[in-house]
Amino acid sequence: MIAQSPADPPAQDDVHTTVAAYYAAKLARHGAIPLGVDWSCEATQRLRFAKLLQVCAFDRPFSLNDFGCGYGALAVFLAERYPDTAIDYLGIDMVPSMIERARRRHRGKPLIRFALGRSIPRQADYAVASGVMNVKLHQPLPIWEGFVRSVLDDMHRTSRIGFAVNFLASPHPDAPPNQLYCPPPETWVRYCEQILGCSVAVLADYGMREYTLLVRRHPD
Ligand SMILES: C[S@@+](CC[C@H](N)C(=O)[O-])C[C@H]1O[C@@H](n2cnc3c(N)ncnc32)[C@H](O)[C@@H]1O
Repeated sequence: MIAQSPADPPAQDDVHTTVAAYYAAKLARHGAIPLGVDWSCEATQRLRFAKLLQVCAFDRPFSLNDFGCGYGALAVFLAERYPDTAIDYLGIDMVPSMIERARRRHRGKPLIRFALGRSIPRQADYAVASGVMNVKLHQPLPIWEGFVRSVLDDMHRTSRIGFAVNFLASPHPDAPPNQLYCPPPETWVRYCEQILGCSVAVLADYGMREYTLLVRRHPD
């Protein structure tokens, strides 16, 4: 059982520094393409977006926070897939070079904005986070789970209707041992239901070693 408690700030700082360096190096090596945010290809990056966005109702305008937005690929996907829905989009990432790339790519679009940071700076209807909690590197499990809890708490606090996150179900056979975080779905379903008081739908079986949680606030 993972109880709600404040994350240990020094331990969280260490997690952020280590993970930020990892993603900054990926972007520097590959550029603003899926490999630059550690995804293998665009098709699977977009499949993840499609699953996460099932939390949103597209028949009316809404606001969306994209936590861990990388170079802003979700904003491109939204414009292509849902051109008729006005979406007030804010992407947040802690890696300065990611935010620079994202801003450059979406310059001149008033409804698409980006913020540098480690937490979500505004309230919105929904939040999504794709791939943010997968790569734990050598962080001890309790420290990493403190980080996951702080991300879920932040998304819950800042989302008026609901939020969606994805997790790895099992590591890729070629991945270095113990560097990926692959929790069973029950761990965070229980947390979102029992501690955050939300309802949760689990999307699995979409052809990847991953699953997506769609987390909705109960109506007041
Ligand atoms: C696997 S990449 C995915 C990027 C993007 N969501 C996508 O699917 O194209 C994860 C991103 O989350 C960012 N990230 C990880 N932890 C974060 C944190 N605590 N605060 C802000 N950004 C974070 C990383 O810098 C990286 O850009």
